[in-house]
Amino acid sequence: MSAQFPDGFLWGAATAAYQVEGAWDADGKGPGVWDTFCRIPGTIEDGSSGEVACDHYNRFEEDLDLLAALGARAYRFSISWPRVMPDGTGRVNEAGLAFYDRLVDGLLERGIRPFITLYHWDLPQALQERGGWLRDDAPSWFGAYADVVASRLGDRVHDWITLNEPQVTAFAGHQVGLHPPGLKSTGAALGAAHRLLLAHRAGADAVRAADSAASVGIALNLSPAHAVSPFDDEAARMADGVQNRWFLDPLFGRDYPQDVVERYGDLAPRPLDGYHGMLDFVGINYYMRHLVRASTRAPLGYEVVAADGPLTAMGWEVYPEGLTEVLLRVHRDYEPGAIYVTENGAAFPDDPGGDDPDRVDYLREHFAAAAEAVAHGVPLAGYFVWSLMDNFEWHNGFTKRFGLVFVDYGSQRRTVKSSGRYFAEVTGGAL
Ligand code: FCB
Repeated sequence: MSAQFPDGFLWGAATAAYQVEGAWDADGKGPGVWDTFCRIPGTIEDGSSGEVACDHYNRFEEDLDLLAALGARAYRFSISWPRVMPDGTGRVNEAGLAFYDRLVDGLLERGIRPFITLYHWDLPQALQERGGWLRDDAPSWFGAYADVVASRLGDRVHDWITLNEPQVTAFAGHQVGLHPPGLKSTGAALGAAHRLLLAHRAGADAVRAADSAASVGIALNLSPAHAVSPFDDEAARMADGVQNRWFLDPLFGRDYPQDVVERYGDLAPRPLDGYHGMLDFVGINYYMRHLVRASTRAPLGYEVVAADGPLTAMGWEVYPEGLTEVLLRVHRDYEPGAIYVTENGAAFPDDPGGDDPDRVDYLREHFAAAAEAVAHGVPLAGYFVWSLMDNFEWHNGFTKRFGLVFVDYGSQRRTVKSSGRYFAEVTGGAL
């Protein structure tokens, strides 16, 4: 398998701070929006929270040993903004930064390249109380935070992802209400998306100013939109615009896609005039395609329908060809200098013994789909499996397991799954 990828290809695994760290109020950390959101009854499927999660804050050395044993050459993790800046702006929490120093040093000692995500959804609660992503100050808050982190870690870290899935922050948080701040307003979602794009650029500029060797990207959740019949092509085009082009086009200096702007009508944000995301790479989080049909009832003229094919425990269709498609498409339509798969993986109802044949098949098929894109000239530089270990899966709590490593949350015992062993075969790891 690895022979089908270029020399130096970065096989890695990914996590996010709120999903694994726990230690929610340790050593001066401030509350984040997920700390608050999880306490609202009914928001999280099993009533849990990330207060303890995988206790990675205290057990990170063991987790880095696991990464090394899996043969990971890179690790994508996120920084908790409220751990570093408890009030969101101003005061810096030295103990919080010191944790990330230890983590980065531990990775480098093991020969694993750190990829930092600056924002994986855990906004400081103090900033939410000031209006969060609906405030015009939000991009500059993020820029100042990015400066603090990059000034501290930029001597050792050169791979930076500003935002994880701004589409989810904006729409799951402000239109659907499944994520904090739990709003249900399309106008608010579009306003948040607008400031997230501006924040990306403020963060990228700050990182580059602090780290002249920085390579800066963003992680986008992209899904091909497929029409269920030839009569639904226009609907699929709109679904693609809403999900994919709404972020890709502005990031590549093309402003918002006009067809979608027209469809949103009065709700559409002002143009981004002259905006450019200045990406060194695009990170793609790939989980599924969307099957789309026209609908006169739906505000955007389409609806996403359930797939017939095999599904993961999330109810997401297993569709590896979609990964090839999305990689080819980003390469063809936007020509970024490099692409990483910054997330791909699957939840299945695992047994504690760690036997997970479905996930092994899933990964094998998706790795082959990525190899197919490489064979067609896509500049794919690395692939991060979601996730290193089972963790707190947002509004699904601990009900969904995505890890290469099984976590028993009671004892915090880690057990490498068959998929972890398969991953190590691909990377040439020691397992
Ligand atoms: C992505 C998130 C990641 C994880 C996976 C399953 O949308 O970025 O944190 O929850 O889904």
